[in-house]
Amino acid sequence: QQIVAQTEILSGKKILVTAGGTSEPIDPVRYITNRSSGKMGYAIAEACANAGAKVKLITASDMKISHPNIEIEPVITSNDMLEAVKGSFDSTDVLIMAAAVSDYKSEIVSDQKIKKNGDYLELRLKKTPDILKEISKQKNNQFIVGFAAETQDLIANATKKLESKKLDLLLANDVSNDKIGFNSDDNQISFIDKNGVFEKTNIESKASISSKLVKILSERLD
Ligand code: CTP
Ligand code: CA
Repeated sequence: QQIVAQTEILSGKKILVTAGGTSEPIDPVRYITNRSSGKMGYAIAEACANAGAKVKLITASDMKISHPNIEIEPVITSNDMLEAVKGSFDSTDVLIMAAAVSDYKSEIVSDQKIKKNGDYLELRLKKTPDILKEISKQKNNQFIVGFAAETQDLIANATKKLESKKLDLLLANDVSNDKIGFNSDDNQISFIDKNGVFEKTNIESKASISSKLVKILSERLD
């Protein structure tokens, strides 16, 4: 009888993980960002690496991680992240988009610090590229995992994202609850695929949710 260690269930797999909140510059000293810490993406990268996968972590977070199976590629903006994902996508088995990608960026980025002048400053924001939508055009056999951060109608909104972004798996989380989600060590996830919600976790550590994701991936990858 062959015994396969539980810890090696993703051995031989190449996994691309994105993490953190991207930042979009306004001028040399100011930028727009969001409340994402990067903890969820880092926990996923670590769990996949511990399961024997070769992980590339494209990160907009300044959290540190060191693991023999994790290669780090730092990025700042949503555009950097898109280019980094495009650059590694063809050679990956799985893409996990845990990053909180900025939805808008300043239309104009000033070369010089914008001087305080008058009571109001108007900034016009332009939509950033949707990385998942862009990359799904390049899809071969990759298994694509996305997140949905919602404050209302969690399952309905998340299911729309699964379809519009052509995902194989979606992790939906309710970010209106302060105990979970952004910057917390805990989260609560509904796992959704084309047949709907098939597993809902309790409020539990991001490490524990990541090991559930690893198990699901090992069952669904060939
Ligand atoms: N995402 C992406 N590119 C973007 C924005 C989001 O690839 N420009 C990815 C995220 O990494 C996540 C998924 O899309 O895996 C859903 O992100 P979310 O912010 O929940 O959804 P959006 O499509 O941005 O819609 P909205 O913020 O309006 O709910
Ligand atoms: Ca968004």
